Amino acid sequence: MSAVLIDGKAFAERLRARTAEHVAGLKSLHGITPGLAVVLVGEDPASAVYVRSKAKQTVEVGMNSFEHRLDAATSEADLLTLIHGLNNDPAVNGILVQLPLPEQIDSDRVLMAIAPEKDVDGFHVINAGLLATGQKSMVPCTPLGSLMLLKDALGDLTGLNAVVVGRSNIVGKPMAQLLLRESCTVTVAHSRSRNLPGICRGADILVAAVGRPEMVKGDWIKPGATVIDVGINRVPAPDKGEGKHRLVGDVEFASASQVAGAITPVPGGVGPMTIACLLANTVTATCRVNRLPEPDGLGS
Ligand code: GUN
Repeated sequence: MSAVLIDGKAFAERLRARTAEHVAGLKSLHGITPGLAVVLVGEDPASAVYVRSKAKQTVEVGMNSFEHRLDAATSEADLLTLIHGLNNDPAVNGILVQLPLPEQIDSDRVLMAIAPEKDVDGFHVINAGLLATGQKSMVPCTPLGSLMLLKDALGDLTGLNAVVVGRSNIVGKPMAQLLLRESCTVTVAHSRSRNLPGICRGADILVAAVGRPEMVKGDWIKPGATVIDVGINRVPAPDKGEGKHRLVGDVEFASASQVAGAITPVPGGVGPMTIACLLANTVTATCRVNRLPEPDGLGS
């Protein structure tokens, strides 16, 4: 392997430590304890793991965690009632509704019901629009974390060719907006793009967020490029024993790490940054609503 490994786990730890310092300051100077409400509907095992992890880390940085676990059969009306209550609760500074939601619930309507200033996921159309027009917004956590790693690895990104593979509202589109804001030349490609390998080969920065295990191969990568692998895919690992699985990204790490200049591993790359940025966003939201100066170095 010749690529430098980008250590998202260590970066996320440092970000959480800075967040904890800001929380301590808010408490001691202003008597404010930021609060994050997480709503989980149903029992999707992966979502349950994420939600538990979010609650644990929220408490570890000194914030209040409010967990709402609803039955899989919950109606959209009942979920909207809960969100309206959280919007009006001054102890709650951030609201996150874990996705995906059961099919009887319209996710867009639910995300639109969250007060934009408490939308720490940055998924509300108001926040998406503010980001797209270069204004202050809540920024989605995974792209925000990916950008922090990129800036840490490369410094100034001005003028670099950035290719984002994936066009989701959660990662691909906001990632492209953030890279544009950094004056990159941005291409958004996806699984249906013609000549995807050729497009990727032009990238100084390659962000893979398609959700397809190991789709991006080493010979798609420009020598020396910086590769951010957002994918977290659970695949069978018969070599580890019957019924065993392992996590892989959207990039074929073994071949890509021979060519890239720097690359995020899976696990331990972008993954840990998502929750760290969620906590940072909650502090940012708390400062904004209380008209306090926004902390430096927490992203948004
Ligand atoms: N499900 C998978 N990733 C996310 C995320 O970043 N936020 C929310 N709310 N749900 C998710």
